[in-house]
Amino acid sequence: MTTIYDQIYKLAEPYWQTRKGEIHMPRAYDYARQLLASYPEADETVVLPAILLHDTGWMMVTPDLQMQALVGSANQDKRPEVSRLHETEGARIAGEILTALNYDTAKTAEIQRIIDGHDTRREALSLNDALVKDADKLWRFDPVGVPICAQWNELALGPYLDFVEARIESWLFTSRAKDLARTLLAQSKAQFL
Ligand SMILES: [Fe+2]
Ligand SMILES: [Fe+2]
Repeated sequence: MTTIYDQIYKLAEPYWQTRKGEIHMPRAYDYARQLLASYPEADETVVLPAILLHDTGWMMVTPDLQMQALVGSANQDKRPEVSRLHETEGARIAGEILTALNYDTAKTAEIQRIIDGHDTRREALSLNDALVKDADKLWRFDPVGVPICAQWNELALGPYLDFVEARIESWLFTSRAKDLARTLLAQSKAQFL
């Protein structure tokens, strides 16, 4: 049976074919589902579309500008206007896709608010927002994301793993995500160090 999430996934996927989005988004989607299992009071009808659509705006940013706006990196806030652009374009594209699917308008508005600020807004607006922010960041710790993110940060794997370990508390909002980050980091250390 095709779910609404399958439909959103299919329409979002073409926008993931840049900046490793085709690797990042399926992982983030899986982490969002894991976090939702621990926080049943969160609304999956907001969290899952938001995570599938959060980085669609990168498709509107040239690869050269993308590399100048790597959030979470040593280059953080070097080009905040470029990071903002992928947020505002992502919110716009999410609106178009969800409207095309006749998605609930109030939920669509909440999803757009979450996407518009998912990287540059440091605080979470709600539990739904916190789960999206956490699911977005967990690939920075896992064995697939680590080599990609280390290269973006221009760090060797050892220093990169130290870098992300020191940021578990400040990057992540929920205790489940922090636990997951520690588990993933242990896997990456076992694999790379
Ligand atoms: Fe993003
Ligand atoms: Fe992301």
